[in-house]
Amino acid sequence: MNTKRILSGVQPSGLLHIGNYFGMIKRMIDFQESSDMFCFIANYHSLTSLNDKEKLEKNTFTSFCDVLALGLDPSKSTIWVQSHVSEVAELAWILSNFTSVGMMERSTSYKDKINKGLKPNMGLFSYPILMAADILLFHSDIVPVGKDQKQHLEMTRDIAIKFNNAFGDVLTIPEIDIDENMNIVAGIDDQKMSKSYNNTIPIFGDEQYIKDQIMNIVTDSAGLNEIKDINTPLFKIYSLFLDKNQIEDLKERYNTPGLKYMDIKNELFEYIMEYFSDQRSKRDEYLSNPDSVYDLMKLGEEKAKSVAGETIESVKKSIGMI
Ligand code: ADP
Ligand code: TRP
Repeated sequence: MNTKRILSGVQPSGLLHIGNYFGMIKRMIDFQESSDMFCFIANYHSLTSLNDKEKLEKNTFTSFCDVLALGLDPSKSTIWVQSHVSEVAELAWILSNFTSVGMMERSTSYKDKINKGLKPNMGLFSYPILMAADILLFHSDIVPVGKDQKQHLEMTRDIAIKFNNAFGDVLTIPEIDIDENMNIVAGIDDQKMSKSYNNTIPIFGDEQYIKDQIMNIVTDSAGLNEIKDINTPLFKIYSLFLDKNQIEDLKERYNTPGLKYMDIKNELFEYIMEYFSDQRSKRDEYLSNPDSVYDLMKLGEEKAKSVAGETIESVKKSIGMI
């Protein structure tokens, strides 16, 4: 049986957060043992919302360290920085000629981002085409992502099918892998947790900041002696770290008068620090050895480039580029 190629990416627009972890990274780590895993830091994607040289440089480097610290292993998987394999931008241009403006206009993620105040530049608008290029350039069989990315993957499939209908079986049509049991992780304001919305609980970084974010999780105004609503962000976020029985216990506590949100918040903070403590030490090691990290980036780049080069050649040949 052929080993499936699994591919996914994460944007370095800010600190990686627990939504990224439970929505995507944790599943990639689970896949790693049994598949040909490709994972990249999507810095071209971040450019659509982040125009700050220092921040982009720093976040790209730290995000790379983050995924290594969380368990993606360069000896088993191909891990690289998107812009180091620039064939992706060439493929995105080619694919944009097989993508209707109408389909891009229906992008809910684009509309959400505009509603949140991001500037509607062309990069943001055509972002799903770059994402299609990321996936198709590497002949990915399966793409694990959080639910928020489902529409982008449907667009990728549409673009690839349209291309193959015109030019033969050049591109691999990817399958979407979404954990239907995992809802979109709520941010501290109960909207989708996202680096672009300043509502995240980061996995790494400053302990005090993580604590402050947890303390800022919105709660309702239920009095001490009232029972509490479990359909709220504090409950939802805490549950991510608990097994079934522990979730039942937490429900019980919410249903019993006397619960103080502050106690739950303090507990959650302790839980998160403990949950990621090994990964925090590994990350510190990577951060203090930048040369070894750059070597690993180079290794990933070379592996990714060899696949990308072949695909781009066959695509160009198939459309008539001499
Ligand atoms: P962000 O929105 O914070 O910039 P990315 O777009 O880089 O995050 O997402 C990287 C991966 O993490 C994607 O697979 C995405 O689906 C997943 N992800 C991001 N936010 C969430 C969330 N709130 N819940 C579940 N998965 C998420
Ligand atoms: N758009 C994805 C996100 O915001 C990140 C991403 C870019 C990606 N290219 C990808 C995910 C290709 C999977 C496959 O979450």
